[in-house]
Amino acid sequence: MKYLIGIDLGTSGTKTVLFDENGNTIKSHMVEYPMYQPQNGWAEQDPRDWYNAAVQTLRAVTDGIDASDIAGIGISGQMHSLVMLDENNDVIRPAILWCDGRTAQECKEITDKVGYDRLIAITANPALTGFTASKILWVRKHEPENYARCRHIMLAKDYVRLMLTGAYATDVSDASGMQLLDIKNRCWSEEILEKLDIDPLLLNKVYESPDITGYVTSAASKLTGVPAGTPVVGGAGDNAAAAVGTGVVTEGKAFTTIGTSGVVFAHTNEMHVDPKGRVHTFCCAVPGQWHVMGVTLAAGQSLKWFRDNFCAEEIATAKTMGVDPYYFTDKEAEQSPIGCNKLIYMPYLMGERTPHLDPDCRGAFIGLSAMHTKRDMTRAVMEGVVYSLRDCCEILKGMGVASEQMAACGGGGSSPLWRTMLSDTYNMDVTTVTSKEGPALGAAILAGVGAGIYPSVQEGCKRVIKIKTMQKPDLAKHEEYEKYYNIYTKLYTALKDEYKALAKL
Ligand code: XUL
Repeated sequence: MKYLIGIDLGTSGTKTVLFDENGNTIKSHMVEYPMYQPQNGWAEQDPRDWYNAAVQTLRAVTDGIDASDIAGIGISGQMHSLVMLDENNDVIRPAILWCDGRTAQECKEITDKVGYDRLIAITANPALTGFTASKILWVRKHEPENYARCRHIMLAKDYVRLMLTGAYATDVSDASGMQLLDIKNRCWSEEILEKLDIDPLLLNKVYESPDITGYVTSAASKLTGVPAGTPVVGGAGDNAAAAVGTGVVTEGKAFTTIGTSGVVFAHTNEMHVDPKGRVHTFCCAVPGQWHVMGVTLAAGQSLKWFRDNFCAEEIATAKTMGVDPYYFTDKEAEQSPIGCNKLIYMPYLMGERTPHLDPDCRGAFIGLSAMHTKRDMTRAVMEGVVYSLRDCCEILKGMGVASEQMAACGGGGSSPLWRTMLSDTYNMDVTTVTSKEGPALGAAILAGVGAGIYPSVQEGCKRVIKIKTMQKPDLAKHEEYEKYYNIYTKLYTALKDEYKALAKL
């Protein structure tokens, strides 16, 4: 039996997983790295941290196995994050991340230069601060000396690929999030590049996700333990990879993930675009098909922020007991009722994409009273994230991209409490699959297709993905959540002018 490797380059860390052909996890290793926030609303990382993490995790999972049985590698990556390299492939400046909201001005410029309608027609999305194009324009305007040195522009996982294989390549799903791709025709848009005055030679070659893009070099082999010549496939943006890793690869299937960001993702055979641009339409990892997804920026990040700042005791206890600190946050939150004794949290720590498209809004607890405890606040954070995900679902439903069942994945998807909240709030069955490795498994399945182990992405999923649990909604609880969700949906409108005023101070 052959091995397949999936590398999941996330925002909090990189996890590399060694699977067998049936998708069973043989070994897994994670290395974390910091995110820097030099200013409110900015977010950066050092691409070299990503590559070091990939090397360390690859070394850990290949140690002690017969590495000649590794049939291929797939990489899944945090999307949109801008990497700029000079002529020697040296990193010019820290990567500007997907959750960085500094480029509101550049988004206006993009819309003016391309025209709103052309932008939607070609890139299927309005100009967004999270997407790569506005980050490129920001560097060109604010750091002209860095821009002048830049010879290669690429995304996070594509930098790791370059270091492993020497290939300048990307895949259609991740490239979709750069706002430079013609989403319908799955190639760089000459029109957009020309109007934004970006040299096409700066960009990597675009492949479909299961295509082989290069082979591990002998230099990378020495560092990682992966044999030279091992194929590396296109891979996918983390959400498109998670879709493959949860079996969401045919029309009518959808998943919700709670990682650093939160996403509601639906697979579509045809291209569907929200004219208001509140959800993203991208190419998916199944060749020739698409997906629509809503993104809430601070999902798991909201709970991590709360845990890191207010739960030192729980973190210490978890450490002595050898359990995940989130086990305790679940336990705390379970002791507060639905609605958290009339407390609502707005999860806009990093501004928001779906549904508000507003880089200036911020988080809030609404209704805070002297009777509230940490339990209520913990639960409110979890409920607020779910309300924001529900907003995403509502838009998808309105576009006619509906699904009757929702898979849950990501770190938050492994919390039974969060899954119950999702099911009761959506009023929908919420399933999990046997493997917890979503994006890493998806990337490995893509590698299996590239290596000829599976005939197609769908066939690979049929062989590997099995449903493990199904959470049924409770109608009485749904009705209870509905009362709070209805109030939640009005809060942003009530506060948005004050958010703008605060941002200007
Ligand atoms: C998707 C998005 C996030 C990142 C997180 O558009 O910005 O989900 O991919 O890694």
